[in-house]
Amino acid sequence: MSELSVKHLLGIKYITTEDLHLIFETADHFKEVINRPIKKVPSLRDVTIANIFFENSTRTKLSFELAEKRLSADVVNFSAGSSSVKKGETLVDTVNNILSMKVDMIVMRHPDPGACVHLSHHVDASIINAGDGTHEHPTQALLDTYSLRKELGNVKGMNILIVGDIKHSRVALSNIFALQQLGANVGVCGPLTLIPKPIVELDVKVFSDLDKALAWCDVANMLRIQRERMDKSYFPSTREYVKHFGLDQQRLERLDKKITIMHPGPINRGVEISSEVADGDQNIILDQVENGVAVRMAVLYLLASKIEHYENNG
Ligand code: CP
Repeated sequence: MSELSVKHLLGIKYITTEDLHLIFETADHFKEVINRPIKKVPSLRDVTIANIFFENSTRTKLSFELAEKRLSADVVNFSAGSSSVKKGETLVDTVNNILSMKVDMIVMRHPDPGACVHLSHHVDASIINAGDGTHEHPTQALLDTYSLRKELGNVKGMNILIVGDIKHSRVALSNIFALQQLGANVGVCGPLTLIPKPIVELDVKVFSDLDKALAWCDVANMLRIQRERMDKSYFPSTREYVKHFGLDQQRLERLDKKITIMHPGPINRGVEISSEVADGDQNIILDQVENGVAVRMAVLYLLASKIEHYENNG
């Protein structure tokens, strides 16, 4: 198979296992490209991409922009704070105005779950979800699973734990879908107030004791508490949270094995992860960020090849 089954990347739940493997193979090629002295290829020379971010971002925004520039696309950036959305314009009207300037692809981050799916029904461009509320963050899951494969080889049969605020996390949901498609066993751990009950329907193991969960897993993906999505308190205090769910060196040393530590960022040092662990040799946090560029190049390249008028420059 040499093309994706989809025109948009709206979530991992909409793509196939074959799509995942095609993205990984293509990312391998681009990882080699971005490690060359000349990191740029002409593949998207005639493609215009708009990055529209209605929520803050450091990694995803920069990573997409770099990926687009490495592929020689024309790039425009738009952030909600400085846009006419503040004057009451709808999302579809805003995006259609951008598209009338001959934009081919939209990379969008939005606080509302389903915003990218909604947009894909109303505009004639390829949409890439860069995180929509608590729904999905597909390129984060792609770069996470790609990084794990690079670190450990095949993830099939491995026990992967996701720790923290599962309830408000789009990263958790996209990772669960991607890891299960690749044959991994997925567990989640956190205060039960931050683990949505329907998660058991996804065939996920639920832990409320971090030490037991760490004993089970080969990999622990630590998530931050998403206070910006909380309208009330879900645990007594940060101190309590750190005591029960914070990953520190002592917890790792009590294990009779060496596990791999991941974090999508941004990290809150001293809360979900101690500085010692965040800077230690068991984590692949910066590898995840580095691989994000190659993975996003792969997604952009593969989706651009599905734009009707566009002939891929190879
Ligand atoms: N991991 C992630 O999405 O980070 P940003 O919010 O900085 O993009």
